[in-house]
Amino acid sequence: MIVVGLPNALGFDEGICKFFNYKLIKVHSKIFPDGETYVRIPESVSGKVIIVQSFFPNQNDRIMEVLLTLNALNELGVKDIVGVFPYMAYTRQDKIFMKGEPISIKALLKIFEEFNLSYLVTVDVHNPNAIKQYFKGNFMNIIPSKVFASYLRKKLSSNDIIIVSPDLGGIKRAEALAKELNTDFIYLEKFRDRITGEVSLKSSVKTNIKNKVAVIVDDIISTGGTIALASKYLKKRGIKEIFVVCSHGLFVRDSISKIKSSGVKEIVSLNTVKPVKGITYLDVIPLVNMILRDVVIG
Ligand code: R5P
Repeated sequence: MIVVGLPNALGFDEGICKFFNYKLIKVHSKIFPDGETYVRIPESVSGKVIIVQSFFPNQNDRIMEVLLTLNALNELGVKDIVGVFPYMAYTRQDKIFMKGEPISIKALLKIFEEFNLSYLVTVDVHNPNAIKQYFKGNFMNIIPSKVFASYLRKKLSSNDIIIVSPDLGGIKRAEALAKELNTDFIYLEKFRDRITGEVSLKSSVKTNIKNKVAVIVDDIISTGGTIALASKYLKKRGIKEIFVVCSHGLFVRDSISKIKSSGVKEIVSLNTVKPVKGITYLDVIPLVNMILRDVVIG
């Protein structure tokens, strides 16, 4: 098996090659003066190939690199391709919220399929059901609760912890983490204005959370609005301390200061996107390798 590392593989390509003793080929890429993307696979490849790329930052360029690499592989005769995409962009537009919109993830998956991507491996995708619905190939969504749990166990006593999903969509994520830590979870209800993007919380928490330590868990942090809102909400209800764990910390604009000033003590993310200052990063590469070994490659 050959691993083809794209420009934003973030060490996942090297990690896989080291673990399995596979050969790594790095894609050559550049941007033409007019902004177009160019890629080239500098060696000949055949058989089954794993391509590796995270879709952030600059998701549109990252996706273009993936599409061009897939086509380059196809042109070389490679028709069995595993995509290891630790962070996938465009997953939140997984349905039509307002008439006239696309289902972005469907569009993306259709193109991947067209270019012979036969197995899609990702980490904590926003809505796994949407991928299952729109992708005909094999699909593996790696759940990182064990990685979060082992970090949190070292920091906090599980008697005090309450796991919080900041919205309904994240219930399963919160439930999985609570199970790992043998503690309870609650969820909040978030409403997002589809036009302004503004979010608000409209439901109240029935469980007694006074003096607990809250661990808010989410898949993506983008502007930080969701987490800041949840954090303020929890503080008002007597929560003692707040930690945040997310799989993909995109941290756009002033999100980190927004979250911290809402009362969050520590923000933890996986290393599926480029690291930034002020965040604790947990390495998910060993878990990805184990799942590749036990499930994907077999
Ligand atoms: C949305 O449903 C996701 O699970 C995240 O909660 C959302 O993407 C976070 O975005 P932001 O940080 O901009 O509030």
